[in-house]
Amino acid sequence: MKISIFGIGYVGLVSGVCLANTGNHVYCIDKNEEKIKKIKKGISPIYEPGLDELLKRNLNNITPTTNPIAAIKDSQVIIIAVGTPFDGKHIDLSYVKQAAKEIGELIKETDEYKVIVVKSTVVPETTMKVVRPIVLKKSGKSDDEIGFAMNPEFLREGHAVEDFSQPDRIVLGVTSKKAEKILKEIYNGYSDATMIITNPTTAEMIKYTANSFLALLISYANEIARICEKLPGVDSEEVFNGVILDKRFSPVINGTRITPQLSAYLRAGIGFGGSCFPKDVKALHAFSEDNKVAGYLLKSLLQINKTQLEHVFSFGINNHNGKIEKIAILGTAFKPNTDDIREAPGIKLAQIALNKGIKVCVHDYIALQNTKDHFGSKIEYFDNPLDAIKKANIIFVTTIWPQYHSINDEEFERCMRKDAIMIDTRSHFKDRKARKWRYRIGVGK
Ligand code: UDX
Repeated sequence: MKISIFGIGYVGLVSGVCLANTGNHVYCIDKNEEKIKKIKKGISPIYEPGLDELLKRNLNNITPTTNPIAAIKDSQVIIIAVGTPFDGKHIDLSYVKQAAKEIGELIKETDEYKVIVVKSTVVPETTMKVVRPIVLKKSGKSDDEIGFAMNPEFLREGHAVEDFSQPDRIVLGVTSKKAEKILKEIYNGYSDATMIITNPTTAEMIKYTANSFLALLISYANEIARICEKLPGVDSEEVFNGVILDKRFSPVINGTRITPQLSAYLRAGIGFGGSCFPKDVKALHAFSEDNKVAGYLLKSLLQINKTQLEHVFSFGINNHNGKIEKIAILGTAFKPNTDDIREAPGIKLAQIALNKGIKVCVHDYIALQNTKDHFGSKIEYFDNPLDAIKKANIIFVTTIWPQYHSINDEEFERCMRKDAIMIDTRSHFKDRKARKWRYRIGVGK
């Protein structure tokens, strides 16, 4: 099958390379010439484990281009994977609308039945009430000549190739049997995945509900943890361990307890970041309010997440008895295995400190350059975590890089100032014996 993908970001590029890897020919369309040049050389413009190698292996099945004309003419499936940022009040659909307009104009002269697929995360009814009308109007065609679909992505940054290649579900929200048949064909390499066939609006709602549910777990855990901090001898980690043993959460099957990965989201921490949870929950909340549905829970989970950063910062200040002149932040990527610093807790914590006149040192294994692009000369950068912590009064461990485990307590103690303390915001070192200088969020004193 010939496929065109509009928008070659995390989702577009990973989707394009993985679909090429299962036998499709994929036109990767993006306005950014630099990005297209890199892809043509087999160099991925984003960091994702395994992506570079998969791209190089499938270059003969990929046509990177800034010009959509030939691509759209030649493709039966056209995927919209452009960004849908939050503009402070609502989801910004301008890139989606522009793509729909260009696609409509380009398919005007073609006779072949095409399926327009929205893969960008869009609020419910966008596919049917925004994309479909624009494409029909600009192309002068009818629903008999064009199929529409919404096919959400469930990719985690840092695991995107793995998540696309081994999907636990493929959701196809389609407007016709013909569109369903064509989309099943492009996914014929993913026979192990459960396929959900539904309408486009339900598919849009599945995506938002999935992400807001994960974000809810994190905010719920942080609220419970704040209560535990008021209770001497109560550790939220232990509380949640007691909760997830419920057989409805982690059943024992043939004598083995199956603990879902979801349980990792039900832990005290520093709150969620990244380019998805914050914008998706805000967009869904705004959508619910626009539709006169009071989004109490969505609003609260955002509020908890926003205040969790201040809470963690204050937790550090309150547990340090001396003067705070400098802090260290270990981890500025929003999560391990990515260089993405969008909405990253480490970045936001650094800003909180700067706003209070406190100096900041940061370390990260691969996001240091993005951090430098963000803060410039306002903070100090270290590519060795033990150098970053040397002059800090408080050290915040904000990204659970596995490599931090290679540092033992003696090394930390040797490099830390005598008055320094560590706030292990994600309990990254919870399996180590407690040291008087290490504190965890969610522990009743
Ligand atoms: C998320 C969803 O997981 C994915 O299915 C969807 O397609 C896009 O959004 P992503 O944002 O890349 O993916 O990462 P995820 O690993 O879910 O982490 C999101 C945030 O939650 C990060 O800030 C992370 O640190 C935080 N998190 C994650 C926790 O606080 N605890 C966890 O156990 C896992």
